[in-house]
Amino acid sequence: MTELLTVVLAAGKGTRMQSTLPKVLHKVGGKAMLQQVLDAANDAGSKRNVVVVGFGGETVKAAIGTQAEFVVQTEQLGTGHAVAQAADLLKNINGTVMVLCGDTPLLTGKLLKKLYDEHKKAGAKATVLTAIMPDASGYGRIIRTKAGAVEKIVEQKDAAPQELLVKEVNSGIYCFECQDLFKALENLNCDNAQGEYYLTDVLEILNKAGEKVWAVTADDYEETLGINSRVQLAGAEKIIRHRKNIELMNQGVTIMDTASTFIDMNVQIGKDTIIYPFTWLEGETVVGEHCEIGPNSRFTNTKIGSFVTAHFSYGHDCEIEDEVIVGPYVHLRPQTKIMKKVKIGNFVEVKNSIVGEGTKLPHLSYIGDADIGSGVNMGCGTITVNYDGKKKFRTVVGNDAFIGCNSNLVAPVTVGDGAYVGAGSTITKDVPSAALAIARQRQRNIEGWSDKRS
Ligand code: UD1
Ligand code: MG
Repeated sequence: MTELLTVVLAAGKGTRMQSTLPKVLHKVGGKAMLQQVLDAANDAGSKRNVVVVGFGGETVKAAIGTQAEFVVQTEQLGTGHAVAQAADLLKNINGTVMVLCGDTPLLTGKLLKKLYDEHKKAGAKATVLTAIMPDASGYGRIIRTKAGAVEKIVEQKDAAPQELLVKEVNSGIYCFECQDLFKALENLNCDNAQGEYYLTDVLEILNKAGEKVWAVTADDYEETLGINSRVQLAGAEKIIRHRKNIELMNQGVTIMDTASTFIDMNVQIGKDTIIYPFTWLEGETVVGEHCEIGPNSRFTNTKIGSFVTAHFSYGHDCEIEDEVIVGPYVHLRPQTKIMKKVKIGNFVEVKNSIVGEGTKLPHLSYIGDADIGSGVNMGCGTITVNYDGKKKFRTVVGNDAFIGCNSNLVAPVTVGDGAYVGAGSTITKDVPSAALAIARQRQRNIEGWSDKRS
């Protein structure tokens, strides 16, 4: 059985993006465009992906890593020339190669699978994915014979006036039989308006050799949109966000206002969770069932359990277990784990800490590099003093401890299980279990002081 391979073209500079970042690494729905193309290819069954890099090649390679093989196109001499760079790797393979562009982030695996299946069914040597565009300008036009067969593709800059009227365009996505493709590429010339080696000419070459050339038309042209500018990037972003919102709502998630909810493609959310407006859920964030998230919240790479309420808060690279109440105004920083039934809110920051089950951190605290046990009450204004200007130190608070308001716990320090700390204390020494520590000046009252003042 022959296998499906892909070649993804990603060597162009993307001049119109006005960016130092290679175009294909710009993100849509929280995912680099090239990553989305590779994911769609893999979903369609691709067994091997080759990416053609050029401008910013090292950056692209670093971002994609081992997901693909790379070939370098040192000079951008056209799409045909770009594919030809993969000849050494692929020309002798008996299989189908799908050629894709790295800047089409709206593609789905379903559409690519359809292209591949119809290419195989037709027994064609080349099949182009076409789309009917409301505005075809900039695209290559599909020129068909009277009988409807694809004759050739004409680039906008080379097209005759009547050819420019054609609304069916080349998406820049194709399936080719590998050996036929690389043989045809040897016969390309750059005798055209742009002086480039056009991949599109391969179709005419195969036609002339009497080989079967086929076309599949996408039902939804949006899937094939290519991104060349920031304006188009914003357009794609909107489409992909809408798609994600619809997918989640169909899975049982309530989204109060789809226009002000921004959920990245890889985010997962459980049933009966409600997302309130102005909420961003990003990266690999996972939210359980029956949660209320937002309004005005942002979670990035955060694992959130079920029955969690989180409003007006921000968390990144952290974990929140079931039945936790977060917010308003909480900042959860990396390597933080908030265990079950914790209540945390009203201007509290937690960094690199574990907060045990049922603990309350209800107001105005900074907790950094700390291990807080279960059932602890951290009074308003409790601060872990974790940094001496050079090094960070840990604070340990045992189960069921009670820390009075406005206390400083100067790390490294341990407060034992069931211990109490008096309000306003600055604790510099360990507090044994069940002890009461008071570390503040004793109050002195001077009777009649104000009367004597004048
Ligand atoms: C190409 C097609 C056009 C189609 C359109 C769809 C050709 C000749 N034309 O035109 O028919 O409608 O895509 O979007 O193929 N690239 C390289 N190396 C190069 C040139 C391009 O890697 O030397 C890559 C680019 O990075 C990009 C892709 O190939 O990812 C397409 O190149 P681009 O210059 O955008 O082609 P279009 O003019 O849009
Ligand atoms: Mg283009």
